[in-house]
Amino acid sequence: MSRPSLIDVDLDAIRANVAAVAAFVAPASVCVVVKADGYGHGAADAARAAVAGGASWLAVALAGEGAELRAAGVDTPVMLLSEPTEAELRVAATHDLTPTLYTEAGVRSAAAIRPGWSVQVKVDTGMHRVGAPVGVAAGLVRTALDAGLVVVGTFTHLALADTPERPENRVQLDRFEGVLAELAGSGVDPGLRHAANSAAALHLSEARYDLVRVGLAAYGVAPARLEPPVTLRPALRLRSRVSYLNHVPAGEGVSYGWHHVADEPTCVAVVPLGYADGVPRNLGLAGGEVLVGGRRRRIVGAVTMDQLMVDVTGDGSVGIGDEVVLLGAQGDEAISAQEWADRLGTIPYEVLVGFGTRLPRSYPG
Ligand SMILES: Cc1ncc(COP(=O)(O)O)c(C=O)c1O
Repeated sequence: MSRPSLIDVDLDAIRANVAAVAAFVAPASVCVVVKADGYGHGAADAARAAVAGGASWLAVALAGEGAELRAAGVDTPVMLLSEPTEAELRVAATHDLTPTLYTEAGVRSAAAIRPGWSVQVKVDTGMHRVGAPVGVAAGLVRTALDAGLVVVGTFTHLALADTPERPENRVQLDRFEGVLAELAGSGVDPGLRHAANSAAALHLSEARYDLVRVGLAAYGVAPARLEPPVTLRPALRLRSRVSYLNHVPAGEGVSYGWHHVADEPTCVAVVPLGYADGVPRNLGLAGGEVLVGGRRRRIVGAVTMDQLMVDVTGDGSVGIGDEVVLLGAQGDEAISAQEWADRLGTIPYEVLVGFGTRLPRSYPG
């Protein structure tokens, strides 16, 4: 697809971010989460960059995502973060993925589909999404071993890692360590013990154990709105070009609903990017800005499905074909995924994974 609108992915930034996290969390090792198409960066390319930066594991949500990594030639161990359905287990077995299990039915299916399979057991210590309850998790590990599976990891996930100072994190870790102690008491090796996402990896040292599972930090976004203890470089840049210039008289509105009415004669630059690409309709209504000529410019009115409008009044130098940066740097200015998230009342994850397949990814360098 040849479009003036595209995403530049800086794979060297991903490599460097992972290397920085790996050095910081050592001796714990690093698993990089590349689900949802590598948080919108392109899963296989992000995965290769992550491995180059020192990741020894990759993680995805779906067996199909793991299969795509294998098809792209990625041979690093890949864990599935939740228990697959029986159909997905078959895909996982074919592609040598490491499933996560937390039910007896899952253990039975995995053992039947692939005797001797390497699996992990997930413990629900308080996220209350998925995982074996604390009271049964150690028993499930033993059941898996009795069924002939090899348990290569036992893990949990923190609900409040974004606020590392909250005592609930310690409560979850205590519950996790209770399960580990139970396993140790019966002479069972839990395999890799892990609990930390990016926020915990960087800001909660006691959650690191043997491995950290980082997504956001690998892509250069500081987790938890905290100053990261390592240098993180955003890897994604969303850019386009001015496609049309529109002179709007004072008193006239712009875009659907006329949510923005020009209070003076206004020069509006049209940018061929819209909510079908992952630029939320409300970004313009929430004060969102873009960069043109290295300067911040306001998006005016509602973002439409394929196009958005920017007020470039007073800068006669803006012309059709000029570069417009929505996320990332231009000149000395930069717009971050966190800035979008703050305006939109969401989190940077939702911003990054929202960029659709209509947007080509380019991998400069
Ligand atoms: C189980 C699990 N571990 C790790 C991660 C990575 O989280 P982050 O991107 O905050 O590092 C996720 C992301 O959603 C997850 O679901």
